Amino acid sequence: MKKCLNDPIFNIISQIGESEKTPVFVIGGFVRDALLKRSSKDIDIVALGSGIQIAEKVAEKLGPKVRVSVFKNFGTAMLRHGNYEIEFVGARKESYRQNSRKPIVENGTLEDDQNRRDFTINALAISLNKDTYGKLIDPFNGENDLKNKIIRTPLDPDRTFSDDPLRMFRAIRFASQLQFNIEEKTYKSINKNNGRVSILSKERIIDELNKILLSPKPSIGLKALENTGLLGEFFPELQKLKGVDTKDGKKHKDNFYHTIEVVDNVKNKTDNLWLLWVALLHDIAKPRTKQYSKEIGWTFHGHEHIGAKMIPSVFKRLKLPLNEKMKYVQKLVQLHMRPIVLSQDIVTDSAVRRLLFDAGDEIDDLMLLCEADITSKNEYTVKKYLKNFKIVRKKLIEIEEKDALRNFQPPISGELIIATFDLKPCKIVGDIKNAIKEAILDGEIRNDYNEAYDFMIKKGKELGLNSKK
Ligand code: CTP
Repeated sequence: MKKCLNDPIFNIISQIGESEKTPVFVIGGFVRDALLKRSSKDIDIVALGSGIQIAEKVAEKLGPKVRVSVFKNFGTAMLRHGNYEIEFVGARKESYRQNSRKPIVENGTLEDDQNRRDFTINALAISLNKDTYGKLIDPFNGENDLKNKIIRTPLDPDRTFSDDPLRMFRAIRFASQLQFNIEEKTYKSINKNNGRVSILSKERIIDELNKILLSPKPSIGLKALENTGLLGEFFPELQKLKGVDTKDGKKHKDNFYHTIEVVDNVKNKTDNLWLLWVALLHDIAKPRTKQYSKEIGWTFHGHEHIGAKMIPSVFKRLKLPLNEKMKYVQKLVQLHMRPIVLSQDIVTDSAVRRLLFDAGDEIDDLMLLCEADITSKNEYTVKKYLKNFKIVRKKLIEIEEKDALRNFQPPISGELIIATFDLKPCKIVGDIKNAIKEAILDGEIRNDYNEAYDFMIKKGKELGLNSKK
């Protein structure tokens, strides 16, 4: 394992361990990632003694500019070196709970420490001590689990998960990130213990969910969240998307499986976390708007509008940001049917102009989402939509070049209307402004000062106003 200890920092830590008579080991994610040949920026060092003391001595050796951040409550210390963030901790008998208010029990053995970690693949350690430098210490066959792509807890999973229920999410997150399978007993234990989610903070859950959304194939994690019952515990709206109703032999698609497929499709095109959230939430109101009629079968009329209205409460409950990120998600959920409706019909310039006006800077993200939203198994349907979207995209470019509607600023201001017709601020001013906007969107006039000015004079005349000119 010496190969992954290339950086001189490991030798320095080793020397300090030696002089302090404190055995030291690299442990956890760094070792896992080294074996997987993935680079990692975090190094965790476990010391059979005081981690904080080792950190301070290492910093001293590295030079006067190196600062150590000490977290006394957690018994940990952190320093930065090059690209690395290095965390030092004393070996523990207690579990690795991040938010624990209980005192941290140190002075465990390495074995104690490894026992209390979350997964066999995260319990691997490499010795930094003179006699055994570079030796892999792997009491639970984590290396094998890495080879076989298995997530498994070192101890009985009920115990590991009761130490920190967040680990149930971590299991699924690692499965999704690494495309591993969760071993059966571990999986069953998540199912059994899913109710314990209630004691976790939303922030920690969302942190894991975001990592799942950003993993190469998010549907792996999302499906597992659903199957283990975790999803229903913290995100009932998403859970409710699952299921298929049949009446008169007509059924609708399963909106949960559709949604996670859309998330995968978006992930294939972008790492924009908030667009992934849009994908996750775009059909969130389908269960609420679902209706059946003999003539047309299943419909979800208005689900985009109701869905957009649901976003603030979902964001609030999940402790997601209530700022422009939420507005972005809301706007795209609201608009997500527009390009589809548009492409079902003849694509007129005016409809494209209105779409561009409403979507503004989000138009490209909206188009990406809508293309990702086509999950039909019918090749003909898929081809037809994609072809029409191509036309929409082409028209968008043409119209954008001509009319610059993306960030529409009215070419005629309210003040100018007031001054031209010698008005006081009143409803007519708004009416004229709106008529100018509509004329531009309908393609009657171009988005241009002179054309809009002439239109304003004409409109004023129609309304019986005299211009001062
Ligand atoms: N750990 C744990 N239980 C937790 C969180 C962490 O046992 N709930 C242990 C694991 O051994 C883990 C190490 O602490 O490897 C470091 O945790 P963290 O930095 O959160 O995860 P990494 O494994 O490094 O992975 P990532 O950086 O992808 O989160």
